[in-house]
Amino acid sequence: MLILGIESSCDETGVALYDADKGQLLTHALHTQIPIHAEYGGVVPELASRDHVKRVIPLVRKVLADAHYTLHDLSAVAYTAGPGLIGALLVGAMSARALAYALNIPAVPVHHMEGHLLAPMLEDNPPQFPFVALLVSGGHTMLIKVERPGQYEILGESVDDAAGEAFDKTAKLLDLPYPGGPKLEELAHGGDSAAYHFPRPMIDRPNCDFSFAGLKTAVLNAVHQSSDLEHDKANIAHCFQDAVAETLVAKCKRALDECHMNRLVVAGGVSANSALRDSLTALMKKRHGSVFFARREFCTDNGAMIALAGALRFKAGSGESAAVGGVTVHPRWPLSDLSPL
Ligand code: KG4
Ligand code: ZN
Repeated sequence: MLILGIESSCDETGVALYDADKGQLLTHALHTQIPIHAEYGGVVPELASRDHVKRVIPLVRKVLADAHYTLHDLSAVAYTAGPGLIGALLVGAMSARALAYALNIPAVPVHHMEGHLLAPMLEDNPPQFPFVALLVSGGHTMLIKVERPGQYEILGESVDDAAGEAFDKTAKLLDLPYPGGPKLEELAHGGDSAAYHFPRPMIDRPNCDFSFAGLKTAVLNAVHQSSDLEHDKANIAHCFQDAVAETLVAKCKRALDECHMNRLVVAGGVSANSALRDSLTALMKKRHGSVFFARREFCTDNGAMIALAGALRFKAGSGESAAVGGVTVHPRWPLSDLSPL
């Protein structure tokens, strides 16, 4: 069973081929829109949609050619049906459903965050279920109890900015170009962790919720008070990153204790951050537990995670005929709405 996966929820077009019988990723390809949005300092939704239109089919051709397959070898076409930018989602959904209709095979709608959450399963040493998942992306920060694929109990989430959003906004305050998160990480390498002490928001609250808006304000104050900002920027970036990592570590610890678990899966764009990976690895080592990440290129948006999640859903029977009904996408879509597999 060969599953084609198409991701187009934001500013990357990702396409991948997954062999559902062998449980193996065959190929994947990604086109990033960073140069398109960089001059605006953030994602411009209409430009994103238009670029996805140009990229989807050439990427489909490329992954099939790379793996020496043709369209007629496909068993199903999986696509990101939400959450994300409505125009961008529609491009992937329309393309996937048109292909599925023409080939007379099922189309499989996939939840983008389920894709992220399952991405560590693409690695050689995949996590066993159950586990606690920390999902940290541009739009979401969540701790989730995962009994099995599709069964997601939200333990806590951000009450304001998501972790990735906090990275991006802080990067803007420091005049870094889009995309902010990775640029901030680079800058932080040269910083001194003792230069500032930013708040660890809600760290003492007896729950698994997060808040990052106050941290952004603390950074803004530091920027305004600095008499030599060019010199202080790396220190601010470093101390901001420390504050985010320490807050996430504290809440992961609480979630694991609450669930009586010692297995942690970390996913989403911010899980590419080395300081965060190191802090969570140290936490799990201290607890004699285990931690799982996706390789860095599969932390941020990609087609491989959609092909994998689509394959699991397809095997569980959730493929639908593309011949009936219209195309529905969900710009907002709670993860807890999904059905267990
Ligand atoms: O998961 P993702 O690619 O897209 C969403 O589903 O939102 O996450 C993108 C977010 C952005 O906010 C980006 O700045 C952040 O992940 N990010 C990082 C790093 N790489 C990506 N944040 C911190 N350090 C990084 N290395
Ligand atoms: Zn994402």
